[in-house]
Amino acid sequence: MLVRLLIKSGAEVQVIMTEAAKTFIAPLTLATLSGKPVLTSFVSDVQSGTWNNHVALGLWADALVVAPASANTLARMAIGLSDDLLTVTYLSARCPVWVAPAMDLDMYQHMTTQRNLEQLRSAGNFIIDAEQGELASGLYGAGRMAEPETIVAHLNHYFQHDKLLQGKKVLITAGPTQEAIDPVRFISNASSGKMGYALAEAMADYGAEIQLISGPVFLKPQHPGIHVTHVVNAREMLEASQKHFSGSDIAIFAAAVSDYTPKTKYDQKLKKTTSELTLVLEKNPDIASILAGKKRSDQFVAGFALETQHELDHAQQKLKAKNLDMIVLNSLNDQGAGFGYDTNKVRLLFRDNTEVREFALKDKQAVAYDIVHAIIEKTHV
Ligand code: C5P
Repeated sequence: MLVRLLIKSGAEVQVIMTEAAKTFIAPLTLATLSGKPVLTSFVSDVQSGTWNNHVALGLWADALVVAPASANTLARMAIGLSDDLLTVTYLSARCPVWVAPAMDLDMYQHMTTQRNLEQLRSAGNFIIDAEQGELASGLYGAGRMAEPETIVAHLNHYFQHDKLLQGKKVLITAGPTQEAIDPVRFISNASSGKMGYALAEAMADYGAEIQLISGPVFLKPQHPGIHVTHVVNAREMLEASQKHFSGSDIAIFAAAVSDYTPKTKYDQKLKKTTSELTLVLEKNPDIASILAGKKRSDQFVAGFALETQHELDHAQQKLKAKNLDMIVLNSLNDQGAGFGYDTNKVRLLFRDNTEVREFALKDKQAVAYDIVHAIIEKTHV
């Protein structure tokens, strides 16, 4: 039970219930757990006409957690309706807001609900995605509210981190690039973007403001401190990165940029009229090299190296050739590391000494924190 866990973690909890919520759980239960009367309407005492001051509530709270958030409440929040105490408090709140949706799977998947969630996310709220499981309707699928432990972990994560990167601007490239052959075909690679996105989240957690230049991936950033520019090919990725590089304190080149692009991009779909087809490819610009080549002494630049043999030598060479301060080495010889996996195993090499820092196989979020900790250490000396 979320209220119980929050109280146990040392939080002071004021529960607000919607009318619908009262049909699921008795206000008295939540009042007992939280040690405070539950607020449900604008007026706390009809006789004396005492108002529940939503502005004061919105200022008092350090965090507003809407859990479970029904499709109806999500919709009301997304369009700014203020027809009950919860929605007016949401509009008056100056603190970060977490929303944990819970509903039936079809309602959750509905375009309108997803659009509302997207809108709430882009308004700077944290969305804690619903989980898979058995739903109240008996159906099985996504729509179950995240476990209370998960919700509390999100809050702890937010409040525990020292904002060591507050005020820092960080440029991150992520994902693959797609190089068009014709209007429907392209050359690309299997990069999922998971490592770059995890780095963006970890950096944002430490208070940094992120410009994430992303190739085509199936990921969405969660943290409101992450601004995404979507690009398709290497040229676009270079142009978008160039816009933000000089304003950045830190740049991390985590994208798997296609090394080559078709020299001719056909306007019309190629016909299979010949038994052979030769495509001429030309080299793409090396974004990391171009930008790190212009690096100022107050900027820190990191890149990645994905190697299959002579890993350390190749990574050392890339570190120097691309003028990087740090390189993250992934070896394809390590089981569970690299493209497509949720896990990764990395070694970190630095420009300023010959140390090689080795890490165990971990999930990409944990790897992102190892990388960010190394960057914080190197940029705070
Ligand atoms: O030379 P290689 O592709 O192995 O270098 C990998 C590093 O360089 C990564 O940090 C990658 O993001 C970056 N890179 C780039 N633009 C390219 C090729 C690689 O930014 N065209």
